[in-house]
Amino acid sequence: MASLTVRQLDDKVKRLLRLRAARHGRSMEDEIRIILGQAAQATGRAALETINPPAPAADQQPAPRTIDRHDGRRRVLLIVGGGIAAYKSLDLIRRLQDRGATVRCVLTRAAQEFVTPLAAGALAGGEAFTNLFDPKSEFDVGHIRLARDTDLVIVAPATADLMAKMAGGHADDLASAVLLATDKPILIAPAMNPMMWSHRATQRNLAQLIDDGVVMVGPNAGEMAERGEAGTGRMAEPTEIAAAAMTLLDNAAGEHPLSGQRIVITSGPTHEPIDPVRYIANRSSGKQGHAIAAAAAAAGAEVVLVSGPVNVPDPVGVRVIKVESARQMLEAVEQALPADCAVFAAAVADWRVADAKREKIKKTKGGTPALSLVENPDILATIAQRKSGRPRLVIGFAAETENLVPNAQDKLKRKGCDWIIANDVSPEGGVMGGDTNKVHIVTTRGVESWPPQSKDDVARALVGRIAASLAGELK
Ligand SMILES: Cc1cc2nc3c(=O)[nH]c(=O)nc-3n(C[C@H](O)[C@H](O)[C@H](O)COP(=O)(O)O)c2cc1C
Repeated sequence: MASLTVRQLDDKVKRLLRLRAARHGRSMEDEIRIILGQAAQATGRAALETINPPAPAADQQPAPRTIDRHDGRRRVLLIVGGGIAAYKSLDLIRRLQDRGATVRCVLTRAAQEFVTPLAAGALAGGEAFTNLFDPKSEFDVGHIRLARDTDLVIVAPATADLMAKMAGGHADDLASAVLLATDKPILIAPAMNPMMWSHRATQRNLAQLIDDGVVMVGPNAGEMAERGEAGTGRMAEPTEIAAAAMTLLDNAAGEHPLSGQRIVITSGPTHEPIDPVRYIANRSSGKQGHAIAAAAAAAGAEVVLVSGPVNVPDPVGVRVIKVESARQMLEAVEQALPADCAVFAAAVADWRVADAKREKIKKTKGGTPALSLVENPDILATIAQRKSGRPRLVIGFAAETENLVPNAQDKLKRKGCDWIIANDVSPEGGVMGGDTNKVHIVTTRGVESWPPQSKDDVARALVGRIAASLAGELK
């Protein structure tokens, strides 16, 4: 049967259909299906066969197919809030489409001050919805269907006002009504002035939203649209939001081999203070640790990421605890336990300054301050050698510039952990700060060398092994 859309019906039929659908609380498409079904029953087999011709011979049967209103593509409902970053949401539509999603748009009243429904609709390839009380769109699609006929809802930009409305459960416009009526995952990309972002009210609302299961991407730090304003509050880039959306969609659709497991991961460098303005650091970017956290969350784990100071975005669906020094990192890890597995990917400073100064050390003519160093706590060994509450699987990283594997084997013994992931951090390798890694998995059973690959691929492969180990399939 040729496909028929509501749009193709003549206006009088459409009007009658709309009224009938509204009376029954159904969409116009559902109403048509029901009318056709009833007509078929009333007029017997002849009518049935007109609508649904006799089945072809067995060898010509098409594959069984469920009603598929979106051609198997992932559906995203994008709610655009009234912030200056709304213009980036037009690009986000494209980025989502590039990744195979169909996009429907809802624009708040304030959003329309920044971008037009025409532009959003033209890019999305359909009407952009704006009004809760528009009879045409309410009869045609309706806020409940907008909320349900999607796989994911994204709010970008999520303004302070929209976040407050979400946290308070408001439903006085189309965007907030849809957000309250949806049973699908919600991803927010906050964007606002740094003062608005750090305001206690916004942080209170954010805590409520996170508690309600809303997932956040960004905001990033940097320059604001307003002249001279900088800080945290920039909306995440469209590519970051699209990547986060895909992770959430994968989570919703995919296998969850780490479901029910709690994993604590450390990432990034530590900063060891010399005085209030100076510190000792290292070149770790946090890319590998953060990628492991993202992959573990995508595999269904409950992830706590204890991160030193980094410039990479927080992974989606992960609880992030930000620390500076090795001692703070150990404390945060201990508080995050118990866990089934701990992965220590952070490059923790081995030493700290013995007597970090409270005041800035003044430069004196001809004088050079002497720094005396003391050893930092060994986070990996402390957790691996715990008498009680030791995670079942403790994984350390070894960053070496020479004798990589022998040093890693020695470290495995000394620290008492289960696996060491050894990587060569010589400057020529470009691992520190780079996007690729070549690792060796060192266990008591031997050494397995993986080929060079992206840090994301290393993370996914490692998470697969962790899942197998926790399931008892691997030691
Ligand atoms: C020029 C301009 C830029 C704005 N940018 C932002 C912004 O980036 N983030 C934000 O939370 N509010 C911003 N606002 C304030 C919101 O537009 C206002 O709170 C509005 O009610 C939010 O509506 P919404 O709930 O539909 O998003 C801006 C206002 C103006 C006039």
